Amino acid sequence: MKPKCVVALGLPDDIIERLATRYDVAAWTGSDAMSQQQLSDALAGAESLLCALSTPVTATIIDQATELKVISTISVGVDHIDMPAATRRGIPVGHTPGVLIDSTADLAVALMLASTRRIAEADQWVREGQWTQGWQSDLLLGTDISQATVGLVGLGPIGEAVAKRLKGFGCKLIGWNRTSRVIEDVEPMALDQVFEQADVVSLHTALTKETRHIASRERLALMRTGATLINTGRGLLVDEQALIDELGSGRLRAGLDVFREEPLPAHHPFLAMKNVLLLPHVGSATLSTRSAMLHRALENLNAGMSDLPLAWCANPEIYHGESKV
Ligand code: GLV
Repeated sequence: MKPKCVVALGLPDDIIERLATRYDVAAWTGSDAMSQQQLSDALAGAESLLCALSTPVTATIIDQATELKVISTISVGVDHIDMPAATRRGIPVGHTPGVLIDSTADLAVALMLASTRRIAEADQWVREGQWTQGWQSDLLLGTDISQATVGLVGLGPIGEAVAKRLKGFGCKLIGWNRTSRVIEDVEPMALDQVFEQADVVSLHTALTKETRHIASRERLALMRTGATLINTGRGLLVDEQALIDELGSGRLRAGLDVFREEPLPAHHPFLAMKNVLLLPHVGSATLSTRSAMLHRALENLNAGMSDLPLAWCANPEIYHGESKV
């Protein structure tokens, strides 16, 4: 009998067929994300789980999945997985670092340009038939990224890739990192100072207990009037209610790819605001990046099922025997 593998998200048929040559595949085909109950039911007797960000893998889920040997997520972030629970059980969690740096950095810069030059707003204006005069001197005026100070919160690989791109625009770069990591041409500063001095603040930290609401109400209040917040990291890096208040007053602008709750609920206040650009969590959404992520996730899954160390493991400590109980 083949070991059971739960695939908690829709994947192309050829991938499911490939998995089915080795595993008894239980693949989710619903149009909504799998619920906790559905995931828990599907995991009965399963040895492996292939998942992504839309499926929280809680401690309860992990504890109930008594046969589970490996979790492989098609994402670099693992904040949707209860890592201490997986580590306690000695379950390796595979993820996909390294392959989505450029795509995410491109999207962050695209959001900066689109927000500061009001691109989505302008496109909508044209489509609505409002362009009735030709060139107008005061139409949809934005700000220049080349004259801006851009503040990077998090100077890991994605923050660094954003800095590399922005150098070409000639803007001033300032940044903060949790550790004393220094990047060429990025002036290091205290976190509050980054929020205070930047015309554009862009978030590039992983979501952890320490970085939750790193863009707090107090820090958003420090931002310059007219400044822009860019978030391609995780929704919970931002105090979303505080951002709604700042956007509602017209003081700030924002470009967001990630939200506290995804999908963004119907009637969310952002949907009625012109000064926020909204994307549906597509930082890594290019053909080649998604294919590389999937490739790594499958490699991790197969390694875990063959009792081999995962090449991209988010809890490598389990291999040193420290945390296995
Ligand atoms: C995307 O957000 C990821 O973590 O891969």
